[in-house]
Amino acid sequence: MPDLAPHRTLDWIGGLDGHIEMIDQTLLPGQFKVIACHDVETLWEAIKVLRVRGAPAIGVAAAMGAVLGIRDATTYEDLYARLERVCDYLASSRPTAVNLFWALDRMKRRAQTLQGRPLADIKESLLAEARAVRDEDAAMCRAIGDAGQHLIADGAGVLTHCNAGGLATAEYGTALALMYRAHELGRRFRVYADETRPLLQGSRLTAWELSRAGMDVTVICDNMAGLLMAQGKINLVITGADRIAATGDSANKIGTYSLAVLAKAHGIPFYIAAPSSTFDLSIDDGSAIPIEIRDENEIRRGPGGLTAPEGVNCYNPAFDVTPAELIHGIITERGLIQPVTREQVRTVIGR
Ligand code: MRU
Repeated sequence: MPDLAPHRTLDWIGGLDGHIEMIDQTLLPGQFKVIACHDVETLWEAIKVLRVRGAPAIGVAAAMGAVLGIRDATTYEDLYARLERVCDYLASSRPTAVNLFWALDRMKRRAQTLQGRPLADIKESLLAEARAVRDEDAAMCRAIGDAGQHLIADGAGVLTHCNAGGLATAEYGTALALMYRAHELGRRFRVYADETRPLLQGSRLTAWELSRAGMDVTVICDNMAGLLMAQGKINLVITGADRIAATGDSANKIGTYSLAVLAKAHGIPFYIAAPSSTFDLSIDDGSAIPIEIRDENEIRRGPGGLTAPEGVNCYNPAFDVTPAELIHGIITERGLIQPVTREQVRTVIGR
């Protein structure tokens, strides 16, 4: 398990007059700093610039953000109006990870069930709901680890992309949960962490987590995966996901699709690990998943200064979609989806 103690990836501190605390992931691995969000504007910025990131962690942040938005409501009407406003505002921070929208919808649905109760009760119940979103996410990650750990054999080489670990979730992770669990069970294997340009979540965050947990992790540049596969160093590829359509087509960090194609070409199984909150069954297939386009300067001004000439165009899609036919299986807290077909997705998730 990642040793992030004494701080969780993010959490609500105190009672209704409390605040959100989170590890500022933009500063890792150079600096470990915990920051506080007392208002929704600070939280929106933290999500936008990736101080908190990873689909499930963004969902937890959004649920807690809804509480920041309503806690000062003075009347019943005021509370419901504020809830609509804060949910619309937080929904505008990032478009791809469906967990954000899932969590905001969940908070709104909970508020509906509380209609007619005293104002103070509604506020307390919404705080309890946000805490439940966090705790349930942690439990789902444990279950994903249990469901998928058998895929990692002793002596295996496992490739992952971006960060789908404790930092991307309430705790423990999705793709990395399998690795933590296999490690806890005494299996020894090597993880290759794709650096994950342009924001380096693989080298900065995955390598940080796994090395702190005493695991064998080696960082590679994104363009090295094909060579390592051809050399027989990779037996398994596992990543997380940001939104999974009804077909099983899965959006994840840009570069995931290329890895899946490479894995197929080399006969290496490619798996996704994700909680049920990452599925969006209202989206028929991957072509309808909104892809976040981020600032060109994330490419132009990479680590160490100018990495492309000023004035040259850069294009910076943050996610891509891996078609279901390239995915060997999807590990969820409700069990394994295999083969990845519309029917199997419906059977495991749609009930
Ligand atoms: O832009 P990011 O860092 O939020 O992207 C994160 C990913 O793509 C993760 O792989 C995904 O959210 C799954 S996290 C369990």
